[in-house]
Amino acid sequence: GKGAYPHYMLKEIDEQPAVMRRLLDEYLDADGQLNISPELLQAMNAADRLYIVAAGTSYHAGLIGKTLFESLVQKPVEVHVASEFGYHMPLLSEKPFFIFLTQSGETADSRQVLVQTNALHYPSLTITNSQGSTLSREADYTLLLHAGPEIAVASTKAYTAQIAVELFLAVALGRHNQLVLAEQFDVHHELGLVATGMEALLSEKEQIETLTTDYLQTTRNAFYIGRGEDYALSLEAALKLKEISYIQAEGFAAGELKHGTIALIEAGTPVIAFLVDEKTIAHTRGNLQEVTARGAQALTIVSERFAQEGDQVILPSVNPLLTPLLGVIPGQLIAYYASLHRGYDVDQPRNLAKSVTVE
Ligand code: M6R
Repeated sequence: GKGAYPHYMLKEIDEQPAVMRRLLDEYLDADGQLNISPELLQAMNAADRLYIVAAGTSYHAGLIGKTLFESLVQKPVEVHVASEFGYHMPLLSEKPFFIFLTQSGETADSRQVLVQTNALHYPSLTITNSQGSTLSREADYTLLLHAGPEIAVASTKAYTAQIAVELFLAVALGRHNQLVLAEQFDVHHELGLVATGMEALLSEKEQIETLTTDYLQTTRNAFYIGRGEDYALSLEAALKLKEISYIQAEGFAAGELKHGTIALIEAGTPVIAFLVDEKTIAHTRGNLQEVTARGAQALTIVSERFAQEGDQVILPSVNPLLTPLLGVIPGQLIAYYASLHRGYDVDQPRNLAKSVTVE
């Protein structure tokens, strides 16, 4: 049940630090070694390219996974929307390995791809919250999210759990190949800092609630912008917002705005920027100036060490590879409060089911 919580979504948002710690218990041995089966690591190692296939929020977790695998394993990764891949299979590399990300393990679009890759005898792994689910049974390997039941239609703790499991896998595979970055990555320490950082953010919900009132109370549309990982975060934050508040929200690559979409900016249009990815912060700030010059109301979500006077939401500093785990929290909370304030059913938005079992 949801206990003292008014909604499952809020409960599940709050559970995220505990899920991070539970995952550390599940995946780390007493001596700090990751317990991921050597057969799985060998099968992935034999591949020349990893293909991540998923839908919705799980797809967005896959976009973060690409950065983790490419940084820590030095192996190319493609991330695909399941419903597209199924009917327009891209030209595959010689030795592909498939990773299916699915909270429920029952998403028909993703399963349809697995049926095809199984027919082609390609090796596969399902990362899921549901042991014994269809995608878990039909893939060669399974890694569990250990996030506990996720009841709210809007996925929250499954996203952060998926990123954590992708991290474990990337570090284990990188170590398997004696890559320095992976060998030096102290998973326990870094993810522990993330859990503490999440708690700090979650203890200041009132600030996010007030910002949501100030920026989103009456608007019909809103933009999230960012570059790199901040772009991936923008897509996820925008999906959360539209799914439960029915505000038309777009996640945008900040640099693409000026190639057309900036025409939509009017006086008062909320533009929320993620300023987490060090390489691109200065450019995204430039894009914010362009939109504020056209009347947009800019709201910034920024890592502590890059914060400037006037920034609104400050994220505790963590390992640069793990910043999306913190950045997503204000996005989840903004969506929650926007829906709540408009009087909608937060946990059961219109037109949607928790798991989408039709193609
Ligand atoms: O169970 P899955 O992870 O396969 O579900 C995929 C999507 O249907 C799901 O993430 C959906 O986008 C959520 N409602 C987003 O909050």
